[in-house]
Amino acid sequence: MSEKASNIHPTFDKILQRQDKELLLQQHAVCIWMTGLSGSGKSTIAQGLEKKLHAHGIMTAILDGDNVRTGINNNLGFSEEDRVENIRRVAEINKLFLQNGIVTINSFVSPTADIRNLAKNIIGEQDFFEVYINASFDECAKRDVKGLYKKALNGEIKNFTGLDAPFEAPENAALEINTAEQSIEESVELIYNFFHSKIKQHNK
Ligand code: ADX
Repeated sequence: MSEKASNIHPTFDKILQRQDKELLLQQHAVCIWMTGLSGSGKSTIAQGLEKKLHAHGIMTAILDGDNVRTGINNNLGFSEEDRVENIRRVAEINKLFLQNGIVTINSFVSPTADIRNLAKNIIGEQDFFEVYINASFDECAKRDVKGLYKKALNGEIKNFTGLDAPFEAPENAALEINTAEQSIEESVELIYNFFHSKIKQHNK
């Protein structure tokens, strides 16, 4: 064990357990992990999905790259190393929410298979569900909601995902949504339908 982790006395066995929290909330916690290019629709879908789950009595938390990077991860940029650290911290935060019975909705570019595997390994395979929000680079550049594609194509932003930094499409996502073909409402509906029975599995 590293020096950093010595002389500490975790109390995991003395605190209320996940099943106590899930019983209280009448739900089974899962991690919904959306991956896709910037501008593919992850954040908008996350917002719609959270509203729908909330309306059906499900307690959720959204973790979103743009938000997290203004707070706990405001010291991180977009190098490979910083993206790994971004996702490592976020995965640990997911674990805390899951331990408390809360469904997490993540929207992170999380561009490589290695990075998503890191998240899956920290969070735990049984709780981690990858949802690929698929929109092509050209489609996202056409939308350019935040004006970042224009800047990246002009060379004003370096290490931009899909341009001069890699994006590896997931090969075994639990669910894939193509936002060039599906509306936001349809996308939310598809994801909701996929997860509802998993979240309510113990209580119906
Ligand atoms: S990740 O690669 O580390 O998973 P994350 O999802 O947290 O990325 O942040 C991505 C968001 O940061 C994008 O939606 C975009 O708004 C912004 N951003 C700024 N610079 C970049 C860049 N070089 N590459 C990708 N996204 C960027």
